[in-house]
Amino acid sequence: MWSALLRTTVLSAVLIPIAYAQISPPDFPPLPVPITSGYTQTDLDQLWQSVEQNGIPVVKANITRVLEPLANFSVGPEPPRFRPAYLQANTSGLRLPEGFLYGVSTAATQVEGAVKEGGRGPSSWDWICHNVPSTCSGETPDVTVNEYYQYKQDIQRVKAMGVNTFSFSIAWPRILPFGSKGSPVSEKGLKFYDDFIDELVKNGIEPVATLFHWDTPINLMSQGGFLNRSIVEDFNNYASIVFQRYGKKVKTWITFNEPLVYCAIYATFPFDATQKGGVNATLSPFICAPNLIEAHATAVQTYRGLVSQGKIAKGKISIKHDGQKPLPFDPDSESDREVADRVADFYLGLFSQPIHVDGNYPQSIEDSFPPSVLRRFTDEEKDIIKGSADFYAIDAYAVTVAKTAPGGLEACISDVNNVYWPVCQDTNPVTQHSRVNGWPIGATADPANTGLSDTTQHMREFLKWLSEKYPSPGGIYITEFGFTEPFEVLLPELYQITWDERRANYLLDYLNEALLAINEDKIDLRGMFIWTPFDNFEWRSATQQKYGLQHVNFSAPGLDRTYKISFFQVRDFFREHLLK
Ligand SMILES: *[C@@H]1O[C@H](CO)[C@@H](O)[C@H](O)[C@H]1NC(C)=O
Ligand SMILES: *[C@@H]1O[C@H](CO)[C@@H](O)[C@H](O)[C@H]1NC(C)=O
Ligand SMILES: *[C@@H]1O[C@H](CO)[C@@H](O)[C@H](O)[C@H]1NC(C)=O
Ligand SMILES: *[C@@H]1O[C@H](CO)[C@@H](O)[C@H](O)[C@H]1NC(C)=O
Ligand SMILES: *[C@@H]1O[C@H](CO)[C@@H](O)[C@H](O)[C@H]1NC(C)=O
Ligand SMILES: *[C@@H]1O[C@H](CO)[C@@H](O)[C@H](O)[C@H]1NC(C)=O
Repeated sequence: MWSALLRTTVLSAVLIPIAYAQISPPDFPPLPVPITSGYTQTDLDQLWQSVEQNGIPVVKANITRVLEPLANFSVGPEPPRFRPAYLQANTSGLRLPEGFLYGVSTAATQVEGAVKEGGRGPSSWDWICHNVPSTCSGETPDVTVNEYYQYKQDIQRVKAMGVNTFSFSIAWPRILPFGSKGSPVSEKGLKFYDDFIDELVKNGIEPVATLFHWDTPINLMSQGGFLNRSIVEDFNNYASIVFQRYGKKVKTWITFNEPLVYCAIYATFPFDATQKGGVNATLSPFICAPNLIEAHATAVQTYRGLVSQGKIAKGKISIKHDGQKPLPFDPDSESDREVADRVADFYLGLFSQPIHVDGNYPQSIEDSFPPSVLRRFTDEEKDIIKGSADFYAIDAYAVTVAKTAPGGLEACISDVNNVYWPVCQDTNPVTQHSRVNGWPIGATADPANTGLSDTTQHMREFLKWLSEKYPSPGGIYITEFGFTEPFEVLLPELYQITWDERRANYLLDYLNEALLAINEDKIDLRGMFIWTPFDNFEWRSATQQKYGLQHVNFSAPGLDRTYKISFFQVRDFFREHLLK
């Protein structure tokens, strides 16, 4: 999941000025020297020493053995009526289609903890949070919710919601501590996900696995990460190992999570350390994008090869897109309508068009960057890229508003030195969340999360647009949606925290709109995954922003989980609308 990256400016999956202001690097130490052979324990220790070089050691959780499910588990008392009866939607007769995936979603860095255990190597997140604590709100992913040891009880707690699927990510540095092709594979790392997947399956919950949710092995970051095309081979090697190990049990795969956020921000994380030779923050997303698309398509080709050789089960594979089609600030302004299309091209089309349509970038992007900056694909490459997704997956939290950049669209498009170039959208957060009539587009989320408003009333419209723009024979999956309850972090008592009204309203409104999209608009929506089962490590906001259906007490030794009211609301929605 994304979250407020820069508290005052950017971002979300829904709102990323591509030419975002680079974070001015405080003094931060150099990345570790790349390790390209040998790969001894001493080499691994050296990588961890680089993480800890500023004197902040990696810590362990209080619980460091796998907890078994509770024999006496219960969800506890049922909550009281949540909404007044008159609000009961008349969607009560409607059903979700057969086979609908109802799930929750997590990501390795955000939940696992145990970063130095089981032979895992460091990721870019371990490195940056330890070396430049302000980047991660002074926290680290060392422990977070300790899923590595507490997953069995967590699966038990989530099962009580009635989910039939669970989306999680595999940490590349847990499988390959050095990341690179030819470097050793950690059997302990592989075993962890075996156990995790088995526990889901045993509970009747279908696993959905993501290969990459932003945790680049630090040893590859030192070699340029996704700005270096040679990572395509490293990723394919990692993907191949993972497919072969779990491909009989996992039938739904995702290669990359939110490629836009990754390429626009984290591909050069920490800061600009991986940008070399005249590459800056405006250009780097467009150097990352072709490498990421090629890595995705190559892994999909590997996956399909393994399936056709009968080595793994037949399943399906895609990529979790981010981005959206904003509403024009002034619906009567041709320029605002045009800039809304431009935002959709740059944020969504950059990855969706090559993969789902024809192997090319949108015209507006090709017009902006010569091939020397944005690598064009050869016909051979296009053949493996187009069609490299069996369904359309998107993390669709909300939509925003697009207003033309000051000075006008034409002036901006033709001037590469214009601060709004290349998207040419006004990046003022006010104009991205309100319209020409002065009204906001919806209730705002936590103020630390400036990118997010509850715009559920517009999601049907967005789904219609999406299914026309990028039709997929495998249907659409909303692979993440969720909401940060305003000011939740400030609430000291459980009785204040557990009544998470804005989150619950967002989720219920969204789910009911989805029900209507399916039944009335005939949108081929086949699954929805809620971000997220419990509060966790929200990247740069760490534990300061809350998306969880469950509260986690980060001060309690057992990291105690408590259900919020949204958990029950979602459970009851699906009890009513999911076909039995
Ligand atoms: C379940 O059992 C444990 C240990 O035996 C106890 O501490 C806990 O309170 C029990 N929980 C419930 C819900 O009864
Ligand atoms: C909801 O109720 C309204 C008014 O009675 C009706 O027009 C509409 O068709 C109903 N929608 C559904 C999905 O039942
Ligand atoms: C790109 O990666 C390759 C292989 O790891 C390495 O040899 C090369 O030096 C890297 N390039 C840069 C600019 O770091
Ligand atoms: C980024 O680099 C390009 C090409 O060198 C240059 O035209 C542009 O002004 C730079 N942008 C920023 C924000 O530095
Ligand atoms: C969190 O745990 C601490 C330590 O056990 C306790 O003092 C505190 O009341 C708990 N907070 C909440 C919100 O339950
Ligand atoms: C372990 O529990 C203690 C309270 O007993 C707490 O202060 C400490 O932060 C916990 N450690 C971790 C890593 O969670």
